[in-house]
Amino acid sequence: MADIFEKLIKSNGPLSKHRERGHGYFFFPKLEGEIGSRMMFRGKEKIVWSLNNYLGLANHPEIRKVDAEAAKQYGLGYPMGSRMMSGNSDYHEQLEKELAAFEHKEDAILMNFGYQGIMSAIDSLCGRHDVIIYDAESHACIIDGLRLHTGHRYVYKHNDVADCEKQLQRATALIEKQGTGGILVITEGVFGMAGDQGKLKEIGAFKKQYDFRLLVDDAHGFGTLGKTGAGAGEEQNCQVDIDLYFSTFAKSMASIGAFMAGPKAIIDHIRYNIRSQIFAKSLPMAIVIGNLKRLELLKTMPELKEKLWSNALRLQNGLKERGFDIGNTDSPVTPVYMKGSVEEATTMLMDLRESYNIFASIIVYPVIPKGHIIYRLIPSAAHTDEDIEITLQAFTSVKQKLDSGAYRVEAIPDMAEAQTV
Ligand SMILES: Cc1ncc(COP(=O)(O)O)c(C=O)c1O
Repeated sequence: MADIFEKLIKSNGPLSKHRERGHGYFFFPKLEGEIGSRMMFRGKEKIVWSLNNYLGLANHPEIRKVDAEAAKQYGLGYPMGSRMMSGNSDYHEQLEKELAAFEHKEDAILMNFGYQGIMSAIDSLCGRHDVIIYDAESHACIIDGLRLHTGHRYVYKHNDVADCEKQLQRATALIEKQGTGGILVITEGVFGMAGDQGKLKEIGAFKKQYDFRLLVDDAHGFGTLGKTGAGAGEEQNCQVDIDLYFSTFAKSMASIGAFMAGPKAIIDHIRYNIRSQIFAKSLPMAIVIGNLKRLELLKTMPELKEKLWSNALRLQNGLKERGFDIGNTDSPVTPVYMKGSVEEATTMLMDLRESYNIFASIIVYPVIPKGHIIYRLIPSAAHTDEDIEITLQAFTSVKQKLDSGAYRVEAIPDMAEAQTV
């Protein structure tokens, strides 16, 4: 019989095999100091492009004040227990009401985490006769929610509306044959890796021909898109077609937690059936009060979204003018596509950090195919023109080095911090 621990030590996964060379540098880096566009990494200031602090709220003085006062008044424990049993409060209900109104939905439910929340919401919505149709590039939380689904699931090619219709036809035929069940379509409002918006308007238009409900994970659209910041549905003028609107608080709100908004009867169903909330402690009061303040600023300070977009466009246009391939993003998420091996990618990343003081994140094999490198830059309202200019120059320089073969090395650089465990 295999010992489970021995097996894991022998074969510890595609990323952790690099940990002896990269732990603390490429993986699990520690960014220190106040959250902003410039933070400390290994004792030196870097321009940071890796945080989803879109509106710059993480370190807004009013937010910091409210967070501190709420923590002082309530501590981090209150209220104890799950919402259903003993963990409810007026503030939790107020936040739900305000989020529902902001998203033009009847009701909303708070969740402790986006990842667990959406997984568990999918579980609470669909049974074994139902079919879930989803975009191939859906976030891991949607994919893992599908693992809990006992019925059929049909995937459509990323943002391919024709393929989505094909899956609607397949699902409709299956349900007619079964004589029972329904269809839930799931997409993202903005795909967090490539920055392209989901085809919400086109998918919504299928409602004229097919019977289904639409759930949108708008983690990256909430606060960044739409006239009022209500997200990708507002941006595409199809919020009414979204039956269930979901966002985490971990991005524009620079906090923790999540919510789902929709019709009162369905949100109530989720409330009484979502296992990740029923069997877990409710969000601490300090977080809820902090989130109420964040929502207030998000609604009343449109200048934050304007600044985010002016920075995003300055960065994106600057990259395009310099010949970089940034794909077809139509959100602040800014991918930069390059070609090279994992070794070249890590050597380039190290040069960018050490010689140019730019902290950015890369995605390489096995997350994406071999030979491809994606930088994922997240502009925010907190970045300055100078941050952007320095970054554009640095990118131009490292790309030239990459193309000239300067980063061709045998192994990924050994940048690991001494591990104490
Ligand atoms: C599209 C999407 N959905 C859900 C989540 C999970 O949110 P949370 O960090 O609140 O668990 C994320 C965060 O990375 C995300 O990008």
